[in-house]
Amino acid sequence: MKKNRKFITILSLIAAASMVYAAGTISEESLGLRKTDLYSESNVKPDEGKFAAKAPGSSKRFERSYENAPPMIPHSVEGLLPITKNNNACLGCHMPNVAKSMGATPIPPSHFANFRPKTKLDASGKIIKEGKTITNTSDVKVVVHKQDKLYQGRFNCSQCHAPQADIPPAVANNFQPEFRSADAKHKSNFIDVLNEGVDIQ
Ligand code: HEC
Ligand code: HEC
Repeated sequence: MKKNRKFITILSLIAAASMVYAAGTISEESLGLRKTDLYSESNVKPDEGKFAAKAPGSSKRFERSYENAPPMIPHSVEGLLPITKNNNACLGCHMPNVAKSMGATPIPPSHFANFRPKTKLDASGKIIKEGKTITNTSDVKVVVHKQDKLYQGRFNCSQCHAPQADIPPAVANNFQPEFRSADAKHKSNFIDVLNEGVDIQ
């Protein structure tokens, strides 16, 4: 009994000591990512990052974030955004028929294809996908419907391709991509590999 009590006293001493230590070292200000008072907004300013200023043709392409990731935009997009129904300046340099002469990367074949399955419901409400009855549209290999024109689901380039600003990330990203070939660091081949790893026909 006596031994137990002594043990409990030692434990509470350790707990009290660590609370004092914690109170002394962890401040409220250090808890948030912005490292300032969390209860007031008056002195909070967002980091003022500068977006890439180099004009198209004078910037340097980024390495892809991972194999077949959408490349980030290395050049200035001043005057190019927003993309509207009647005005998409990106096409003037990136359409495959002009890209080479502009020194730009051509829009890849995946953007000239519709991957959506042709589906309809039968009388009982089951999904019929391109001749097969299935329960889930993601269970089946993607059928590529190539088309001559840019697929309209790809029209809004900046939905997936983002310009970059020089703001240090609040939390470092330790992700390390693994590329299966040196080419994949700067070139996509998505259309050729999109069914990789899918067993179901
Ligand atoms: C005046 C021609 C021009 C226009 C307009 C243009 N680009 Fe570019 N783009 C280029 C060139 C040239 C490069 C290659 C890098 C360089 O030389 O600056 C490039 C590179 C890129 C890359 C990187 C490709 C890679 O292989 O890494 C992306 C993504 C991109 N542009 C997207 C866009 C988007 C989105 C728009 C519209 C908002 C756009 N570009 C408008 C010429 C242009
Ligand atoms: C829905 C998302 C999405 C939209 C919208 C989109 N892209 Fe992409 N883009 C991607 C992805 C993902 C890749 C990489 C895989 C691939 O090639 O499909 C890519 C690849 C590219 C590449 C690199 C091609 C290569 O050979 O390496 C270029 C250039 C490009 N896109 C330009 C554009 C332009 C210009 C537009 C607007 C007309 C656009 N993209 C719209 C997702 C998108």
